Amino acid sequence: MNWDDTTEPTAAERLVGSVADGEDQAVEAALRPRDLDEFIGQEKVREQLDLVLRAARARGATADHVLLSGAPGLGKTTLSMIIAAEMEAPLRITSGPAVQHAGDLAAILSSLQEGEVLFLDEIHRMSRPAEEMLYMAMEDFRVDVIVGKGPGATAIPLELPPFTLVGATVRAGLLPPPLRDRFGFTAHMEFYGPTELERVIHRSARLLEVRTTPEGAAEIAGRSRGTPRIANRLLRRVRDYAQVRADGRITREIAEAALAVYEVDARGLDRLDRAVLEALLKLFGGGPVGLSTLAVAVGEERETVTEVAEPFLVREGLLARTPRGRVATPAAWRHLGLVPSG
Ligand SMILES: Nc1ncnc2c1ncn2[C@@H]1O[C@H](COP(=O)(O)OP(=O)(O)OP(=O)(O)O)[C@@H](O)[C@H]1O
Ligand SMILES: [Mg+2]
Repeated sequence: MNWDDTTEPTAAERLVGSVADGEDQAVEAALRPRDLDEFIGQEKVREQLDLVLRAARARGATADHVLLSGAPGLGKTTLSMIIAAEMEAPLRITSGPAVQHAGDLAAILSSLQEGEVLFLDEIHRMSRPAEEMLYMAMEDFRVDVIVGKGPGATAIPLELPPFTLVGATVRAGLLPPPLRDRFGFTAHMEFYGPTELERVIHRSARLLEVRTTPEGAAEIAGRSRGTPRIANRLLRRVRDYAQVRADGRITREIAEAALAVYEVDARGLDRLDRAVLEALLKLFGGGPVGLSTLAVAVGEERETVTEVAEPFLVREGLLARTPRGRVATPAAWRHLGLVPSG
């Protein structure tokens, strides 16, 4: 019997979680920008990528391999599709976990057409043998296909047509240097600023045929944790609320009321984030307190605290991890409207 029906949702189920859930996947296809001009923000990355792609097109060549690094929901898959579209090349999508055997990768590589864009998502999760095959494929457009087993096995070299590998990873540092070095260009994707997120929301609202005031969009943007995927998800929840409880139009008041229902606060913290902060402030005077003690106080696993709640709290400058334990910052006291005692 399961008594524990109060468990927090997993990272993917949270309204402010950055990992895509089923509904996200269904609607994201419709909301994805199709070319670089439509892609909002990431000015540096856009300018750099634009040069790489334009130059390759002008030379009539295949674009250099591109590595996209950035947190979930910042637009890596979107950019890979844009790269293929801008190069007017076909796109093949696979992922590190899907190519566990070198043979899987050989099969994909040997069926690529000239100029094709191969998107390898979560490239840091590829197996070692596949990774080594990829080195040669990226550099020399060649793979050795092993035929047979044991002492009788032979390597048959196979020429590949030139292709563009687009790798995606949450952090470039997770890749072994030899792999990282084989990319001609690495795009580091940053979290989005509030104005950029407002533009994302206005654009998505237009596509979803939802009316939004500038203040309504700004309210949602401020709670989106710098992440377009979260902005789009909050927009859909606010739209529901506006439809059911009002005339369908998203204003600041409607956005505030809707997100209060979903317990996403003005800064994008949800119930779990606030529970962690509140325990830290109210029970431990702001810390320092050990992780295990803090986890017990909020009734969560240590991993839930470190992996689900803390990254955003740290990024927002509300919590610090110190050698002596977790410490709340002055901003945390202000955000919860509390005053340090003693
Ligand atoms: N710059 C942008 N402008 C407009 N919409 C964007 C932008 N970046 C991302 N989005 C939207 O956010 C959603 C998530 O983007 P995407 O799937 O590309 O993220 P991702 O980095 O691949 O995430 P993951 O790491 O989970 O695979 C998409 O629906 C897309 O429409
Ligand atoms: Mg993706």
